[in-house]
Amino acid sequence: MRAMITAISHYVPEHVLTNADLEKMVHTSDEWITSRTGIKERRILGQNLGASYMATHAAQNVLEQRGVPARELDLIIVATVTPDMSVPSTAALIQDKLHADNCGGFDINGGCSGFLCALTTGAQFIESGRYQKVLVIGTDAMSAIIDYEDRNTCILFGDAAGAVLLEPTNNPDWGIEDFELHLDGSGAPYLCVPAGGSLQPASLDTVAKKLHYVRQDGKKVFKEAVKGMKKVVSSLLVKNGVDAQDIKLFIPHQANKRIIDAVANSLNLNSEQVYINIFKYGNTTSATIPMAMSEAYLDKMMQKGDRIILGAFGAGFTWGGVFLKWAI
Ligand code: UT7
Repeated sequence: MRAMITAISHYVPEHVLTNADLEKMVHTSDEWITSRTGIKERRILGQNLGASYMATHAAQNVLEQRGVPARELDLIIVATVTPDMSVPSTAALIQDKLHADNCGGFDINGGCSGFLCALTTGAQFIESGRYQKVLVIGTDAMSAIIDYEDRNTCILFGDAAGAVLLEPTNNPDWGIEDFELHLDGSGAPYLCVPAGGSLQPASLDTVAKKLHYVRQDGKKVFKEAVKGMKKVVSSLLVKNGVDAQDIKLFIPHQANKRIIDAVANSLNLNSEQVYINIFKYGNTTSATIPMAMSEAYLDKMMQKGDRIILGAFGAGFTWGGVFLKWAI
């Protein structure tokens, strides 16, 4: 038994924040942002909506696409670093909005690798034979934890959600073949939100010091991201006896076009084999991979049985990859 993706969708808020808008907010330029990151614009969620709002839209699309009523879901797994609240889980809020009255669920924080953590976790419930329908969502309202006075970070991130339905199959031409997940907590200081947890609870002081916003050493993260993603993807290729030429699409986490290009070049992948949509959305953390997969599917870039590689790197440090055969 293996797990396959049987439906996929995504949701982005309507409001667009362009590089020209950012030029009016911080000392930056469209030229700098485009050449250093590949980003032209990103989407921003309205206030008082939360990550569950975007996730619920993406999830409803997935259920509709597959014709599955919400009450048939066995499990909802949500990858997010921007939960609506720290308690309860965002999965619980989505369950309620979907009226998915017969399921369990929980959140996963795997930084920018969160969706791959959630996807591979969901796959275990299917492969064990325990569950038949697992909804896996990546959703992040990054605008909630970004300082729009900090040009180092505010140009990078955006808001979005993506969702997939996992179901069992016995067909070896479909579904998740293999994966790897890695964690190195010595990377924690290089990409973090210092306050708001149990270590530094919210206080007037933490707010005054802007400790509730993303802090990043971009150069360090950049270097580690190229190294980690390259290593994990080549390891999956070697382990599974697959040549780079046999991969239909490499769908990487979208943090910086230069990171994606460096990884793709080192793996000898040509540009048609690499899916990039960062120019439209920026880095949407847990949502980048399901959203990119969803757009690639809508663009008919994948056929049943095609070999697909997903790769991610993010806060933790976390990194990972998934090798799958497309099934829809
Ligand atoms: O998904 C989670 C993982 N996150 C990532 O993968 C992000 C990884 N890092 C990156 O993508 C890049 O490091 C950044 C895009 C964040 C920065 O690019 P960089 O080429 O590493 O630039 P830098 O940080 O070395 O900055 C170069 C210069 C600096 O000026 P000086 O010190 O050379 O005078 C910065 O102050 O560019 C300056 N700078 C900017 N200038 C205009 C930094 N941000 C900006 C900006 N506009 N927005």
